Amino acid sequence: MIIIGSDHGGLALKKTLHSYLRRRDCGVTDAGTDNDASVDYPDFGQKVAEAVVSGTAELGILICGTGIGMSIAANKIPGIRAALVTDVFMARMAKEHNNANILVLGGRVLDEQKACDLVGAWLDATFEGGRHQARLDKITALEQKYSSP
Ligand code: RB5
Repeated sequence: MIIIGSDHGGLALKKTLHSYLRRRDCGVTDAGTDNDASVDYPDFGQKVAEAVVSGTAELGILICGTGIGMSIAANKIPGIRAALVTDVFMARMAKEHNNANILVLGGRVLDEQKACDLVGAWLDATFEGGRHQARLDKITALEQKYSSP
């Protein structure tokens, strides 16, 4: 199951991606927002990130205006590897090398087709493990080193 969330800046693209994921027969949960009212992206980043870390969702997608705020917020949650991507190569690498469990997109940056292509490239890719897992282990060690006692 994939959980998808956005702020007002990502709402339109969230609707597009929700339909795209359903066409791909992916189970999708919508974490909001669901209207144009101005909201704070960390609230939705937290919702999606916590669902992924807890295992309620396998993967997450977050969208704000640029994707920058959502990626900063989601990456504060230990265990989250949120990747902000703008092209297909980055989207594929986000899975193959970084095993990103959240893909982050900018709703005011991407057109609909490009965004669907990015999500598709990420979903279709496979984590390569090996030396890349060793690097992810170092990120986990950093999380542990700097987490509150
Ligand atoms: C909201 O106006 C905007 O700041 C937000 O969607 C996002 O782009 C932040 O990084």
